[in-house]
Amino acid sequence: MNKHERMAAALRGQPVDRTPVWFMRQAGRYLPEYMEIRSKVSFLELCGDPDLACEVTLQPLRRFKLDAAIVFSDILPVVEAIGREVTFEKGHGPRLPNPVRCAADAAELVRPDVADALHIVPKTLDLFRKLEPNTPILGFAGAPFTLLCYLVEGGGSKSWKHTKQLLLSDPKTAHMILGMLADTVGDYLQLQMDHGVAAVQIFDTWAGILTPEDYKTWALPYAQRALARASGVPKLYFTRDSAPFLKLLPTTGADVIGLDWRVDIGEARKVLGDMPVQGNLDPISLYGPNEEITRRVHNIMRAAGPTGHTFNLGHGVQPDTPITGVHAMIEAVHSFRSTED
Ligand code: CP3
Repeated sequence: MNKHERMAAALRGQPVDRTPVWFMRQAGRYLPEYMEIRSKVSFLELCGDPDLACEVTLQPLRRFKLDAAIVFSDILPVVEAIGREVTFEKGHGPRLPNPVRCAADAAELVRPDVADALHIVPKTLDLFRKLEPNTPILGFAGAPFTLLCYLVEGGGSKSWKHTKQLLLSDPKTAHMILGMLADTVGDYLQLQMDHGVAAVQIFDTWAGILTPEDYKTWALPYAQRALARASGVPKLYFTRDSAPFLKLLPTTGADVIGLDWRVDIGEARKVLGDMPVQGNLDPISLYGPNEEITRRVHNIMRAAGPTGHTFNLGHGVQPDTPITGVHAMIEAVHSFRSTED
């Protein structure tokens, strides 16, 4: 099977010659060649330049035997597109100088024409497909609830207090913003599909901070609405801390569920029925000895079973991850069949 066939089959639960592998944040700071580019341009400049974004997307493919790429960008350009500036300060992650905390703030937001406001990623995709036609590329977007978290909080948070306060005190405004985000995200996923992605993934990174009741009110319906707006290739839904919501995830409308490392992938598959899955090695495992990485990778593959599994980390790779650990993980995915025979 070539990489396109292998990824297409795994994402649809069909037989594969071996489990495909890619990983979240595979382009990024753990690679010296990425840091070399970052010494000359800021993260936002990198995200705003299709040539550089394409180069960075290609970097991990040169080092590792990966079955897919993910387009280099971020989830926050959508936040900028609906009307709020985002900055990145060294060591602090994203910051919004002007967060959205009330109805009057929300009234300033705009529903963008995505082809106009989010034109960098489609250009990056076109370039990538010209330079690397043999590797499938995934598109992505933040899920509406996770984007709301940044929009309201103004940056990362431990408690997401402002976001939860808005849900409690002004649900009407929160629903209005989420609806706008869902439609924008759906259109953005479709735009990426129209530029040849093999699959799309929505990241609902922070949905796991919600109670089960709140998840059903604030995260699930808007993930459904975003996913329902786009069609053509398999759609993946990733969230952290999803163990309490597993049985709800087949209702997202996604075709594949991305799992973090806190669940046993075999147990999760029983709950998810016949849905294909992606995951779920703890990214910190990559700091361990090669034999331990191999053991953990093989355990996951054994538990996940031979079909309907795309190997990935349970969340993004950490910036100072040893490259030897990444090699060990990928080698272990490739060697699985032979060790089991
Ligand atoms: O996975 C990939 O290789 C594709 C690129 C990608 C990035 N961000 C690049 C990035 C993707 C898919 C994302 C998604 C993203 N961005 C999410 C959802 C996934 C997740 O990690 O939970 C979130 C929550 C963001 C928001 C964001 N962007 C944060 C919180 C940060 C700072 C934290 C950190 O890891 O430093 C970023 C910055 C960011 N996005 C970097 C990269 C490579 C580091 C920027 C740098 O070079 O300094």
